[in-house]
Amino acid sequence: MQFLIRRPRRFLRAALPALLFLLPAAAACQTRVVINADLAKDTISRNIYGHFSEHLGRCIYGGYYVGEGSTKIPNKRGIRTDVVEALKKLRIPNLRWPGGCFADTYHWKDGIGPRAKRPAIVNSWWGGVTEDNSFGTHEFLDLCEQLGAEPYITGNVGSGTVQDFAQWVQYVNFDGVSPMSALRKENGREKPWNVRFWGVGNEAWGCGGNMTAEYYANVYRTFATFIPGAAGSGSLWRIASGAGSADFHWTEVLMRDIPQGLIEAIALHHYAVDWNHKGSAAEFTEAEYFETMRRAMQMEDLVQRHGTIMDMYDPKKRVALVVDEWGGWYDVEPGTNPGFLYQQNTMRDAMIAGVTLNIFNNHCDRVRMANLAQTVNVLQAVVLTEGERMIVTPTYHVMEMYTVHHDALLLPVSVQGGIYAVGEGSLPAISVSASRDRRGTTHISLVNIDAGRSQDVAVEMRGAAFSSVSGRVLASGRIQDHNTFDDPARVKPTEFRGARLDGTNLRVQLPPCSVVVLTLK
Ligand code: AHR
Repeated sequence: MQFLIRRPRRFLRAALPALLFLLPAAAACQTRVVINADLAKDTISRNIYGHFSEHLGRCIYGGYYVGEGSTKIPNKRGIRTDVVEALKKLRIPNLRWPGGCFADTYHWKDGIGPRAKRPAIVNSWWGGVTEDNSFGTHEFLDLCEQLGAEPYITGNVGSGTVQDFAQWVQYVNFDGVSPMSALRKENGREKPWNVRFWGVGNEAWGCGGNMTAEYYANVYRTFATFIPGAAGSGSLWRIASGAGSADFHWTEVLMRDIPQGLIEAIALHHYAVDWNHKGSAAEFTEAEYFETMRRAMQMEDLVQRHGTIMDMYDPKKRVALVVDEWGGWYDVEPGTNPGFLYQQNTMRDAMIAGVTLNIFNNHCDRVRMANLAQTVNVLQAVVLTEGERMIVTPTYHVMEMYTVHHDALLLPVSVQGGIYAVGEGSLPAISVSASRDRRGTTHISLVNIDAGRSQDVAVEMRGAAFSSVSGRVLASGRIQDHNTFDDPARVKPTEFRGARLDGTNLRVQLPPCSVVVLTLK
């Protein structure tokens, strides 16, 4: 009582969730969610939870790879053990490499054979630094094996030849007798890796060659024709370089001009960034935060509209939409190389991740793969390293919390209500997706992007009843909060106690700027 008299505000804040549940069920809530558990038909591919790692800044060198000679940093064949162990908890389904823009400058034969004999080149896109090619095809595929992730290799279309590309596929995948499989064996790998995902160039409209859509469609047709095994086995995915954000013409031309037998997927890139004012990654205003949220949420419209174009040519959704670059992009950290794209990662990034992954889940009939840019030390990274030290970011925690959705059955949702308003602008405050896993457990991921207000959410479950609810929450006092090498666990998930279940009705009190994942049994 003393406490209540002295600190009435703090008491009310703490007791609010409990008081809310004393209200009659019909009491007004800010957001209403309906989950149609009886209308499930599509599976959320685990490949939506893929990552992207480019020869850029300290992503590969220093991030993943320290070389076999490193005595200070524990490693397996040169690949950092701490990073691999952290990433294994994310169950990364696929990893895209070697770029990005770097891919269209990369000649894979430079990165095989004895390391001492590999030529050094200049990484012209990213800081003009020397690339010694010590991390090449074998090292990348070793990394994927250590992670348990499927490799996704992007071939060089911009400055490479059809023959180079076809030979790379043969080097990596061919089990019979050929000059390329002989070379692979000579380099120490007897059995092929059978890589399924192959990108046919990257951003062909920009750093990949500044092509028009019409020109690239023809170039693509030529490359795709000579990638062996594609049409026959049906297992290899040729992923066409896709549109940047709202370039719907690009998708239209590719869908129109590429025969369906030559293409398994088409890409899309979208960053939550204001190119005229990227701003600081960790010191930003609420107005800047709101603008990032607005740009992240554009993904909903982009996926829908590119999907509608694809539906016109491919109503059976045979061709997948692969969002193989997404995330937040800010100014580099002060004092770091501008070409290295090293940025901190805050609760704002956790919001981008939560909202974007919900969008992908809800569109899993067409979005069957995606890749966050980029895994370590670059852009919206899940892991940051500094010499021997390593930390995980708020985005890492969201990715880990969402592993429950991998390969689960999507439960369609409708969301109505809660608004987050800043100045003249307003956005939906709440984003939701839900799924049922193979064991029959249901998971709901909810994001409240409102920086200052908690949200009261009423969830109606149709076609399913549950007896228990538990959950985890990622929240922190400020939208700018983040982990540092000196304070590595400042932002981390904790047990969530703000959900109450009453048969098929759930009432959830979401803290400001939070990601919650509920488990219903
Ligand atoms: O992820 C960084 C860069 O962004 C990639 O290299 C390129 O594809 C995109 O423009």
